[in-house]
Amino acid sequence: MNLTIGAVILAAGEGKRLKLDAPKPLAPCLDKKLVDFPIRELQKFFSRNKLEGFKTAVVGHQKELVQAYIAGRYPDVKYAVQVKQLGTADALRAYFDSSIDTHKLDYTLVICADTPVVSEAELTKMLELLQSEKCDAVAATFKEENPKGYGRIIRGSKGFHIVEEKDATDEQRKITEVNSGLYLLKTEYVLEHLKDVDSNNKSGEFYLTDIFKDDLNVKALCFPQGNVFLGVNNLEQLEMVETILRAQKIADLREAGVRFIDSSHTYIDDEVEIGAGTVIYPNTYISGKTKIGKNAVIEMGAQIKDSIVADNAKVLAYSILEGAKLGEKAHAGPFARLRPGADIGPEAKIGNFVEIKKSVLDRGVKVSHLSYVGDAFIGEETNIGCGFITCNYDGAHKHITRIGKNSFIGSDSQTVAPVEIGDDCFVASSSTITKSMPNGSFAISRGQQTTKEGMAKKFIKTKEKK
Ligand code: UD1
Ligand code: CA
Repeated sequence: MNLTIGAVILAAGEGKRLKLDAPKPLAPCLDKKLVDFPIRELQKFFSRNKLEGFKTAVVGHQKELVQAYIAGRYPDVKYAVQVKQLGTADALRAYFDSSIDTHKLDYTLVICADTPVVSEAELTKMLELLQSEKCDAVAATFKEENPKGYGRIIRGSKGFHIVEEKDATDEQRKITEVNSGLYLLKTEYVLEHLKDVDSNNKSGEFYLTDIFKDDLNVKALCFPQGNVFLGVNNLEQLEMVETILRAQKIADLREAGVRFIDSSHTYIDDEVEIGAGTVIYPNTYISGKTKIGKNAVIEMGAQIKDSIVADNAKVLAYSILEGAKLGEKAHAGPFARLRPGADIGPEAKIGNFVEIKKSVLDRGVKVSHLSYVGDAFIGEETNIGCGFITCNYDGAHKHITRIGKNSFIGSDSQTVAPVEIGDDCFVASSSTITKSMPNGSFAISRGQQTTKEGMAKKFIKTKEKK
């Protein structure tokens, strides 16, 4: 039979020092919230080790918000409500009081909502130790040169115990092995010892750390890399964990063949995928569910969100893509803006100061300079001159513009939608197209030019000399 585990995510705390307008578990972290990270790693931990059981978030401060967020994304996560934040042991009691099923699982794992760098790897190591050493509880610890604020690990002959900073003697405060707040416990063991935890300490809180004792069969597992346990209590620590998470993401991508010119100034979110041979310049922000293919180039200043960039495509400097698609070998930029629904075909070229919204541009289309294309379909190899506008909005509704393949739209033209231009058409420069054009047609719509010799002086104003 598979092992059963109750995973408890402690998420009742307030997080005052973050000074955010949100409860701490919902503090932003990369393009997610803090609480997303432990939940995701727990999912991996359960599936990697074929564990059964369930996950429960202990909520308290602004519990409606935290609960609503978790429920919307992780329907399998249960809740326990801690009415008053009386300490970490009290939070775990709230969990065991929430359902009798929690008592029946083999192990109980405790993880904090504010330690987003902890990964499935650490959890699995703890499980392996608990099983190989046949002990009752494991706490993850690490060495910290500046251990201020952490509980100190005092190792005994058999087990160990933890002294919180506030309650520690000067001698104990010098100890650099500290408690991470991550525990894997036999459920039977924790139920037995949780009963005895009191609040006779300097904080008057019920410390979960009091369940570890020197003479019991408990182990402190010291991890060499302490920064994985970094907790987010203030904005500086939030920035530090984001930096660590991003560096991990970049290291994975680099390993897979992505080349970074200056990765310390490159911002890539968690779920982004990038193919081998792609080059990423600095000051780029790539987020959401973006997928970038192989051998693509993303130049400096690019912002790409929820978009697809195909193999060998180029996003040139200072371009913005959101909910857009850039086909194989297509180019966009510099200074291009591809808004949601922009679907740019292979080998197409979108140039500087061009905005495209909700439009499909087929293979090889060129819109090279200073244009707006919205709610349009443009066929293969059509060339759009400089300064073209699809007038798609009548003040109340958006209308569609269709332009066929191999057409040529002269510079400084506009189409007033709804309108359709066929294949192989030619629109003369500076035309306003309001009527549809059949295949192969030519249209011109602009005032006739009149030239009067010598008449310029009538209009040229000269400044009076003082
Ligand atoms: C805790 C540990 C300390 C460890 C440190 C690591 C205790 C007594 N101390 O201290 O040994 O070095 O973590 O970061 O456990 N929470 C609740 N309800 C409560 C209190 C806390 O849900 O009543 C949650 C918080 O939201 C947070 C977690 O428990 O996610 C840890 O609480 P926190 O107050 O940050 O504990 P520390 O003082 O940091
Ligand atoms: Ca903490």
